[in-house]
Amino acid sequence: MRMGILTGGGDCPGLNAVIRAAAKTLLSRGIEVYGFKDGYRGVIEKQWAPLDRAAVSGLLHRGGTILGSNNRDNPFNYPAHTADGAITYCDASATLLENLRSLELECTIAIGGDGTLSIAQNLCSRGAHLVGVPKTIDNDLAATDQTFGFVTAVATATDALDKLHTTAESHHRVMILEVMGRYAGWIALWSGIAGGADVILIPEIPWSIARVAEKIHARQQEGKLFSIIVVAEGASAPGGGQVVRERIAGSGDPLRLGGIGEVVRRLVEQETGIEARITVLGHVQRGGTPLVTDRILATRFGVAAAELALEGRFGHMVALRGTQVITVPLTEATSRPSKVSADGQLVHAARAVGISFGD
Ligand code: F6P
Repeated sequence: MRMGILTGGGDCPGLNAVIRAAAKTLLSRGIEVYGFKDGYRGVIEKQWAPLDRAAVSGLLHRGGTILGSNNRDNPFNYPAHTADGAITYCDASATLLENLRSLELECTIAIGGDGTLSIAQNLCSRGAHLVGVPKTIDNDLAATDQTFGFVTAVATATDALDKLHTTAESHHRVMILEVMGRYAGWIALWSGIAGGADVILIPEIPWSIARVAEKIHARQQEGKLFSIIVVAEGASAPGGGQVVRERIAGSGDPLRLGGIGEVVRRLVEQETGIEARITVLGHVQRGGTPLVTDRILATRFGVAAAELALEGRFGHMVALRGTQVITVPLTEATSRPSKVSADGQLVHAARAVGISFGD
């Protein structure tokens, strides 16, 4: 019997650990395992390679994905080059389904975020055999209590905050760190608490520059002449709406957020007269070695996904509920995003230690 593995969407620390765990579990049961290159593109273009023991050895600590990934190619809106070099979009799902059949794959494990998993669900409803593994540094999938890669991204942001603290203090400045997270404030909230931020701005809590300035001034009254602000890329700008960095044609979610940090920096300087600097952490949050907890979660997810495939429970994905790995229908992966609760315990704890949300 043969099975496939693909990774789709933005990469994330721990993907290789999932590939390794799933492949090892399947190989030990005598299954031939194949890896598709660059997500669904590899299935459409028939680009695949065997994942034998040698191919999945030494992967546990490696960031990225040995299979390659992309967050643009949607089989239902797939880019094709015309003779004159222009790009048109077409439905390539029939080709994809035919390729899965002709390659005689009993099941394919799709590791990805809401885009990849909703495509998997759509393909399952057309008869394909897929199971899912939720992945994203943003931690914004409600079907699972946590995604692997999130904690590593938070650690990277926290490390940046530790470094910004010392230079902020030396220069009596306001330092602003813009972090990823798409429409959820999880990375900002966790890193802000762990890194001792003074202000955290997230999409879930509307803020005003007057309240941010109030916090900065209150610190000055206490003799603290510097302040640290973490802002999630999805936090709303004053007047509403997110700051969009670019639009990616063909992508399931074409908006790429970015730029709110600079908006906050200008407003802070205008409102307080204090020098402010912005650091946009960017894709460094997606790279590097996964932390221990992410390696373990990724391994548990990989093993559970392989077992799901072996049991023939197509159309399902693995998820973390409390301390248990469970399975849920793929439809749940995208039914609603996971957002920070504005009156939840984490926000409460942050407020209790003096962090302002600018509200
Ligand atoms: O979903 C992961 C993520 O890193 C988001 O936090 C961010 O908004 C987006 O992907 C960036 O996408 P790209 O790699 O296309 O710039």
